[in-house]
Amino acid sequence: MAVAAPRRTTAEVTLRPMGTADVAAVRALDALVQPSPWSEAFLRTQLADPETRTLLVAEGPDGTPVGHAALVVVADEGHVTSIAVDPAHQRSGVGSRLLAALCREAVVRGLTAMTLEVRTTNEAAIALYRRFGFAPAGVRPGYYADPDGSTTDALVLWVHDVDDPAFRRAIEEASR
Ligand SMILES: CC(C)(COP(=O)(O)OP(=O)(O)OC[C@H]1O[C@@H](n2cnc3c(N)ncnc32)[C@H](O)[C@@H]1OP(=O)(O)O)[C@@H](O)C(=O)NCCC(=O)NCCS
Repeated sequence: MAVAAPRRTTAEVTLRPMGTADVAAVRALDALVQPSPWSEAFLRTQLADPETRTLLVAEGPDGTPVGHAALVVVADEGHVTSIAVDPAHQRSGVGSRLLAALCREAVVRGLTAMTLEVRTTNEAAIALYRRFGFAPAGVRPGYYADPDGSTTDALVLWVHDVDDPAFRRAIEEASR
């Protein structure tokens, strides 16, 4: 009988705010997993506006970022604009912890909704978001311009009841 592999632990991974000292490591991580990584200049502009942006890193025991995520506040909505985990640390709960932290931030900021776009082909990320209650609301054709000149459609996902206690329960269950 096959025995399922134990889920790896994230116990040695800590979440903290991203700082300018993390920019190089975050860009190196993105180069591994993002088809169109943010430029250094764009990342620095995000870090310069903490009023409307929350950027987090998940760091390993040696302090090196193994994941990061970003939330941008627009009026009373939170837009998840980035989430990425080093391939060596994927599928061990790091992405869930980062997304849970952004969702808690949306609750703390008193936002009413959260949204994001994701490639329709990105089954891993879609599965992650669905666990937190994000629901599909439509497709933006050709939303992503890829480096090879092709485009990929975006699936638009929303959570509309950020202020509902049921969402807070969903966050805690999905991030266990
Ligand atoms: C999407 C991503 C951030 C997930 O990070 P992660 O740390 O691996 O996620 P977790 O370990 O917390 O996984 C949580 C759940 O997401 C889903 N999931 C994650 N990776 C998956 C995969 N490869 N295939 C299917 N489902 C997956 C599962 O439901 C998983 O729960 P389970 O392991 O109990 O089955 C990571 O795969 C990544 O960095 N991908 C590249 C960048 C990217 O696509 N970002 C999103 C852009 S919108």
